[in-house]
Amino acid sequence: MPTSLSGRDFLKLLDFTTPEIKYLLKLSRQFKNLKLTGTPHRYLEGKNIVLLFQKTSTRTRCSFEVGAMDLGMGVTYLDPGSSQIGTKESIEDTARVLERFYDGIEFRGFAQADVEALADNASVPVWNGLTTEWHPTQMLADILTVQEEFGEDVSGRTLVFMGDCKNNVARSLMVVCAKLGMNFVACGPEDCMPAADVIDACAPIFEEMGGTCKLTTDVTEGVTGADVVYTDVWVSMGEPDEVWGPRIAELTPYRVTSEVMALAKPEAIFLHCLPSFHDTNTAIGAQKAEQFGITEMEVTDEVFEGRQSRVFEEAENRMHTIKAVMYATLS
Ligand code: CP
Ligand code: NVA
Repeated sequence: MPTSLSGRDFLKLLDFTTPEIKYLLKLSRQFKNLKLTGTPHRYLEGKNIVLLFQKTSTRTRCSFEVGAMDLGMGVTYLDPGSSQIGTKESIEDTARVLERFYDGIEFRGFAQADVEALADNASVPVWNGLTTEWHPTQMLADILTVQEEFGEDVSGRTLVFMGDCKNNVARSLMVVCAKLGMNFVACGPEDCMPAADVIDACAPIFEEMGGTCKLTTDVTEGVTGADVVYTDVWVSMGEPDEVWGPRIAELTPYRVTSEVMALAKPEAIFLHCLPSFHDTNTAIGAQKAEQFGITEMEVTDEVFEGRQSRVFEEAENRMHTIKAVMYATLS
């Protein structure tokens, strides 16, 4: 039976089967081809979507907006301060209003329970644009980038996440690796390891799909032989300011440097969901440099700008993959 995701929410990758994830990746490649050849694809003309952001964004917002416009849809953007949600109106009531206006709802916020509540109360598809627990649209772009490098079949490839392995991106990477038969390595300090809920959920999937999952505090053990080295910021959106000091102290040994990349396969690539603190050309980067005396955080500028880095291809792929998610669920 052909795969159909019509009417489905996109809240976390654990909700999707391996064939469904592969279908979204295939659709993404087709949309990328249409975009790059300048072929119009206004397949969803007449529909409208709303984007609800309780946290800041560049890539996710722009991907939903451009993706929707390319598909012929209208878009409303609601920033953290300009709707009633959370302050004067509950998520449940907001959902029951927005479903009457819109064909789909994107939500970026804090608790996963919030996006789940939105989906439970809205009859239209709800897409998770990042919560504290998960960042599922990011993973599609990441794997599309891996496929572009190594071919469509990514099973057996090894992806190492370095640093804060308990965050939304690392958790989601563990799931997508499990679903696609890849090997996942979380490399970071003991107290930054993924929580038991995600490890337990992924264990039977790794078993079934033939991939492996390793948690290690040892950089050499973690990175040797990797195909993909991935990192993310050391402090995620919504975390308190006080965590910066301890996080910098415990995660500095897990910074992705040229020496770390040299442990991976010669053809390995470097990925980062972005934004990244690879220099001091940001307000926060400059502030932390002054406060803690470090000019680079999770990745050195050399690696970020180096030959193995695919971070801007990965960022572009957010647009093609988010377009695929919208098309698959709205058509
Ligand atoms: N990677 C990512 O989600 O980027 P934004 O925070 O800019 O959307
Ligand atoms: N872990 C990061 C990802 C940003 C795209 C955060 O939640 O801030």
